[in-house]
Amino acid sequence: MSSKLERKQAAAEAALESIRKGCRLGLGCGSTVNEFIRLLGEKVRRGFSVRAIAACTQSEAVAREAGVPLEESSEDLFPLDVLVDGADEVDIRMRLIKGGGGALLHEKVLAFSTYKFIVIAEGEKLVDELGKFPLPVEVAPFGFAGTLKRIRKEAARVGCVGDIALRRDGKGKVFVSDAGHWICDCAFGNIPDPESLSIRLDNIAGVMGHGLFLRLASVVLLGKEDGVMVLGDSDGLILR
Ligand code: A5P
Repeated sequence: MSSKLERKQAAAEAALESIRKGCRLGLGCGSTVNEFIRLLGEKVRRGFSVRAIAACTQSEAVAREAGVPLEESSEDLFPLDVLVDGADEVDIRMRLIKGGGGALLHEKVLAFSTYKFIVIAEGEKLVDELGKFPLPVEVAPFGFAGTLKRIRKEAARVGCVGDIALRRDGKGKVFVSDAGHWICDCAFGNIPDPESLSIRLDNIAGVMGHGLFLRLASVVLLGKEDGVMVLGDSDGLILR
């Protein structure tokens, strides 16, 4: 029986195989990405070179510790060749919910600026329908109450109703995202039409980003008990 950590590591190892020397690489966030960064660090110490940028401060710290050099955002770094990021939920059509870690706007900026987006996660993240994981929506603090009302209204129009909680940190203080915004976790339950919800949220002025990542992932690598399941390039194949 493999552990959760081993399944994350298996997905991370599979992603590492497609990283070419010298490539422009985006690093997302989460514990699975941390495993990827550590493995990448081992390669870098053996002379492998990449040009990397991290989406969140946590990944920056892990990269620093692992010896993966990071760059500031510069024009010649974009578009990225590859982005490696985790997910909170994935469906069979490679639609994702992301943002559990609180860097969703940065993650989305990178996802829109890469040729290839590799998602790594352990197998339990694969769901029949998106929405059990509360959808993170990143909002500007200014006019928050008005934005919240608008989110409720627009979501209800596409059948999404449920508690919306302003995210707080362990000490009860309002959580501030890596981009300096607040995050609402929307417990809608199943999201019947993610595309329509995504468009409606994108059209609200105070919404800076949301956790629906649709038509962005190129390949999803899921660490499972019997190997790595691949969605995308080679649908449904078990790798090893
Ligand atoms: C970060 O905001 C999320 O989108 C992460 O990618 C997600 O929480 C994955 O985390 P784990 O790899 O720890 O499950």
